[in-house]
Amino acid sequence: MLRPVIPELGGLVRATPGTLSLAQGMVAWGPPPAALEALMAAASVPAGEPGFRADSSRDAYGPVQGDGELLQALATSLRQHDQLDLAGADLWVTAGSNMAFNAIAQVLCDGPPAEPSEVILPLPYYFNHVMAVQLAGGVPVPVDAGLVPDPQRLAAAITPRTRAIVTVSPNNPSGVVMPGPVLAAINRLCASRGLLHISDEAYGQFVYGGEPHVSPASLPGAAAHTVTLQSLSKAYGMAGWRVGFMAAPATLTAALAKVQDTVLICPPRLIQRAALAALAAGPAWCRPRIAALAERRAQLLAAVASARSQGLPVRLLAEPDGAFYGLLAVAPPLAAVAGSACGGLTGEQLMRRLVLEHRVAAVCGESFGYPPDWWVLRLSYGLLGQAELDEALARLFSGIRALLAAPRPSGP
Ligand SMILES: Cc1ncc(COP(=O)(O)O)c(C=O)c1O
Repeated sequence: MLRPVIPELGGLVRATPGTLSLAQGMVAWGPPPAALEALMAAASVPAGEPGFRADSSRDAYGPVQGDGELLQALATSLRQHDQLDLAGADLWVTAGSNMAFNAIAQVLCDGPPAEPSEVILPLPYYFNHVMAVQLAGGVPVPVDAGLVPDPQRLAAAITPRTRAIVTVSPNNPSGVVMPGPVLAAINRLCASRGLLHISDEAYGQFVYGGEPHVSPASLPGAAAHTVTLQSLSKAYGMAGWRVGFMAAPATLTAALAKVQDTVLICPPRLIQRAALAALAAGPAWCRPRIAALAERRAQLLAAVASARSQGLPVRLLAEPDGAFYGLLAVAPPLAAVAGSACGGLTGEQLMRRLVLEHRVAAVCGESFGYPPDWWVLRLSYGLLGQAELDEALARLFSGIRALLAAPRPSGP
């Protein structure tokens, strides 16, 4: 079973004061002011006498899929901003989009233990998808189909037990924005083989290059076999509020209701008020904040180029045109020295030593399905300001240089 890398790394960072984090998948801004106002307004209504709810839309259990007003606003937003064809789909509000993925995994992985259901995860995968499938009793099937996944290589991995293919675009961890025609081909593949296409769009608004973000469920008729996952965590700066959404085929509604009722009963109602206000602020509110991140992205690209020009064997595995990540690979000239990469130091050990000895955190590639002995690191530029990012990247590259020169810990 895959281990949860982010909480583990978070513990190491907290225990190592002064560490700068290129690890956390968060932005530096908070929610639209209207979301806070809506929350406060709803919270300030008195609760009334015991046994009596002055504002039952806040205090009582609500509808399992979410409050009607928010579901309406969500449908409008998905149609307007993502051109989703919602015919035959139902909408769900969940506690973050991870919870939506987990619910889908629970519903899909229905094979008996001797013949577990399979879910295809193109490499690099998002670690929580792996863990959700495993927790549901299914088998995650990582497929190396390229950073822009080749539909034919995905097709070759389909077995009679396959239930779904997952895409993440813009991608965590690579930053790749998958071209619309590729997503459409994967979507058609799913339709023709009776599979679900699960499209994780947590970073849908975060695009910087010429490739636009495309929701596969915008294809005519796709709603019947496509699950679209979206989140307020990133674009709206509401990661801690835990609110996400899912559009899923209506054929799954009864099964999903069983999962949601058992786990959550209903999405937290105060938070739904805030989410409604955030959606009203909409992409227009998010756009300038995301545009400002393009400067941090340029800073990352420039720092990698400068490190390379100084002889450090680093490169980004893909042009990161979306999300707020880049995948850095270190191609060690030392590979031949000790059999495995970099003098026997694994990617995870590299990650730990960068924190302990160089006060900089990044997530190792093994968490995304790369071989343990590869030196691949996911770098997030979402959280740090200009000066901090400069400092973090300087520490990272001097740390890599030092560890390349002396990969074995000194002392006993
Ligand atoms: C690809 C991807 N999907 C989903 C999530 C989780 O988002 P949420 O906060 O909505 O659960 C993340 C968070 O990092 C992510 O990277």
